Amino acid sequence: MSVVLITGAASGIGAATAHEAVRRGHRVAIADIDMAGASLLATALGPAACAVQLDIRDEKAWEAAFDTVASRFGPVEVLINNAGIIHTGYARQLSMAQHRHMVDVNLVGPMTGMMTALPRMRAQGRGHIITICSMSSFMPLIGYTSYGATKHALRAFHHSVAIEEQGGPVTFSIIHPPGTRTPMLEQEMADPSSVITFAEKPLDPEQVASMIVDAIAKKPLEVVHPALAGRFQRVAGVFPRLMHFAIPRVAAMARRRSPGAGPGPVTAREQGGSR
Ligand SMILES: NC(=O)c1ccc[n+]([C@@H]2O[C@H](COP(=O)([O-])OP(=O)(O)OC[C@H]3O[C@@H](n4cnc5c(N)ncnc54)[C@H](O)[C@@H]3O)[C@@H](O)[C@H]2O)c1
Repeated sequence: MSVVLITGAASGIGAATAHEAVRRGHRVAIADIDMAGASLLATALGPAACAVQLDIRDEKAWEAAFDTVASRFGPVEVLINNAGIIHTGYARQLSMAQHRHMVDVNLVGPMTGMMTALPRMRAQGRGHIITICSMSSFMPLIGYTSYGATKHALRAFHHSVAIEEQGGPVTFSIIHPPGTRTPMLEQEMADPSSVITFAEKPLDPEQVASMIVDAIAKKPLEVVHPALAGRFQRVAGVFPRLMHFAIPRVAAMARRRSPGAGPGPVTAREQGGSR
């Protein structure tokens, strides 16, 4: 059984993963910028869980979080880089501050976590880094411009480091959840620009949590779900003409499924402001 640090574990997929990991006998650090939420969950999960204050953008806070967990449970053996955010809206409707916020949290945050974990895990002779990415790391999507860009880049960074570290004591896995019923998905569903969300039936966070906790033991290189649709998205993302043909059609189908979703990106009235 392992000592597991999960970022963004006060809510959604991270919280469900903390539940499942404790249920399967792991000791779990619930790390989040939302300390009140993390503490509430840690108390509910009992002595195998603890709450850790962590803003993943803060390099010093990462070092402190690893030290706190080491003094409570022993050195972190599994890092699950899960925390992420979205600002919904078409690219032109978001402020540069919102674009930058996504880059800082979704890309620089997990990179900082990996760079904190790697020397420690190499020194202790074991470790596993699990990155929670997104199907948007394979294919640019309408309404997910910077979000998808951060996930493309995060996937590239993760695999580059994993290949550099091949044969060493640290292993690497990526999980790409499809749409999952969490506060993040509710935020997307409330915004017509994210209509592509309605193209598929979302999973429950417990289903994704089970895949993530399975990965602790199985150490897969990369998991997409569902496997077949996931493969299609990966292929479509490679060919620009296919991408430009398919994505507006999938969005139009999703718009028909969700009559409240409003017009597409070209006809949408400028809204601006923060979301
Ligand atoms: N929900 C989906 O449909 C979906 C699909 C694919 C991928 N994902 C990815 O799964 C991960 C979890 O998403 P979720 O849907 O559970 O989201 P969520 O909004 O329910 O939870 C995100 C958690 O991250 C925390 N957080 C935000 N900024 C932080 C920061 N700077 N430092 C530390 N913690 C921070 C929040 O406080 C929150 O507890 C994200 O990386 C997301 O991109 C989600």
